[in-house]
Amino acid sequence: MCGIMGYSGPRPPLPLLVSGLERLEYRGYDSSGVAFFNATGAIDVLRAAGKVSVLKERVGSLEGHPGAAIGHIRWATHGAATVENAHPHKSGPIALVHNGIIENEQILRERLKAEGVLFQSETDTEVLAHLIRLEYERSGEFAESVRRALALVEGSYALAILCQDEPADLIAVRQGPPLLLGMGEGESFVASDIPAFLHFTRQVYAFRSGEIGLIRHGDVRVGEISSPSSSWKSPVAQTISWDPFFAEKGTYRHFMEKEIFEGSRALMDTLADRIVPWKTLPELAPFGPFPPPSLTFVACGTSWHAALLGRYFMESMGIPSAVEIASEFRYRPLLLPGGSWVVGISQSGETADTLGALELARKAGCRTLGISNVPGSSLERETDLCLLTHAGPEIGVASTKAFQSQVALLMLLSLALSGAEPETEKLESLIRSPHRLEMFLETMSSERFDQAVERLRQSHLVMFAGRGLDYPLSLEGALKFKEITYRPADGYPGGELKHGPIALVEPGVTVIAPMVDSNLRQKEISNLREIRARGGYVLAIGPSIPENQRGIWYDDRIDLPEVPVWSGVFQAAAVLQYLAYRVAVALGNDVDQPRNLAKSVTVE
Ligand code: M6R
Repeated sequence: MCGIMGYSGPRPPLPLLVSGLERLEYRGYDSSGVAFFNATGAIDVLRAAGKVSVLKERVGSLEGHPGAAIGHIRWATHGAATVENAHPHKSGPIALVHNGIIENEQILRERLKAEGVLFQSETDTEVLAHLIRLEYERSGEFAESVRRALALVEGSYALAILCQDEPADLIAVRQGPPLLLGMGEGESFVASDIPAFLHFTRQVYAFRSGEIGLIRHGDVRVGEISSPSSSWKSPVAQTISWDPFFAEKGTYRHFMEKEIFEGSRALMDTLADRIVPWKTLPELAPFGPFPPPSLTFVACGTSWHAALLGRYFMESMGIPSAVEIASEFRYRPLLLPGGSWVVGISQSGETADTLGALELARKAGCRTLGISNVPGSSLERETDLCLLTHAGPEIGVASTKAFQSQVALLMLLSLALSGAEPETEKLESLIRSPHRLEMFLETMSSERFDQAVERLRQSHLVMFAGRGLDYPLSLEGALKFKEITYRPADGYPGGELKHGPIALVEPGVTVIAPMVDSNLRQKEISNLREIRARGGYVLAIGPSIPENQRGIWYDDRIDLPEVPVWSGVFQAAAVLQYLAYRVAVALGNDVDQPRNLAKSVTVE
């Protein structure tokens, strides 16, 4: 939900701001803008409705004056995606960009109007610019005016702020949404996510909620928003191991395509050093005893689907577990006994509902465990223990390699929590999964999918159905499909079809059936026959699907190699991701930045 980028240092800021915003564009793409100092020492603002490419054209060959500068990409909440509503917002000598929501905006707006302030936009952000400007006129002190103004504000915000009278200074504030500081040699960056500045530095400090940073080139001090200035301290950076290559498309057309094919590497990096003789996940040891008295997963979207798979893995190891959608869980009475484990799964580690659910659990005396892909994320900091998936930065809005790495980590977690010696078959299957997926991805050529892609393109409805492990895979297949093709799609447990959804089946409807869970194959086949009997077209995805059954219970198939189920899950997921990707490309959609979505949902 919106992306912020700021810079203070000796380089001309505009080229690096624009390229940073391009890397953050997955967070929103309704409008964008930059504020920078011109040669006369005044702050100029350039803004554009639409994607960063439009802003880039407006910026042209302008470089901006070295010093401080800020930029923003917007996912609209308050006000339409117009130039007027685009950030930065400026009031007198103050210019700022904002990610978040100001909850008492209406009250503040009315108060400011009564003081004679004229508003130029419908955004809640503009209120902040005026408040800080008024405080600055009173105190003449930049940081102090920010603090005083924010004392009046309720809501969540990450901010980067400039002041006309302090051309080298950048103030960064975090109250809720993520904000990271990149610490270079004699220069500093702030951004909503690491890829924005990964080409310049890997030294990263993640602002804590409630912190303010005073940044002048390489000199950075951090304090509490609500404390007096005596509490300033120097931030201690951590080194991020991510390779800047991750943030580039390379030879691929889209980040999503690249990230699907990075699935095997994501698995390998996630599992590395986490399987030692007779033990899995050694970092979990201090969190014992195992198994926990009760275990509940909370997550949203794709991460919720990974959690649903996680429940099957847990149950197969004899560990009872529950799965909750975070946005529902956090508003229901929490009836878990103290000491229960609540496990939050989130690629970004910043999803507001998942963090909210974990906070509720923590207050109720539960132990919290996180699974996140982003080092330094809120999830990592706010849980008792956080396990990182090492998928590398995921830029495409549709989650792909991060899902694969979450699933791998959940398999590992189920083995670790069982407390027993890991079952050799499962452990071996997991150890071999990255290589097996790599081999499989090499066969996933586009021609092999042409027929299925054409069929799906022509289908007016696509249903995904599976049983056992194939049910969460069906949900994930459907989510991937609808979010980037914009076509109606839903996932069902195979056994539920005849309780209602089968009424939708008619010619022109395609049912995609992942079939890696061999235990339930015969039952799934019966469900698929019922689909075909009603004119539906069945595309089966799995190993060992006999040719002589074509026209009996399936119409077309995508073969998966004969591998143990735990390896098959990754292969089926890759096929579902790639099918959605190919259909979306065939439809001419913007797969990396699908309409109405943002990668990180940092507001409720
Ligand atoms: O960062 P998170 O894993 O917490 O994000 C959760 C969902 O917003 C995310 O998975 C979303 O559903 C993706 N667009 C799915 O591709």
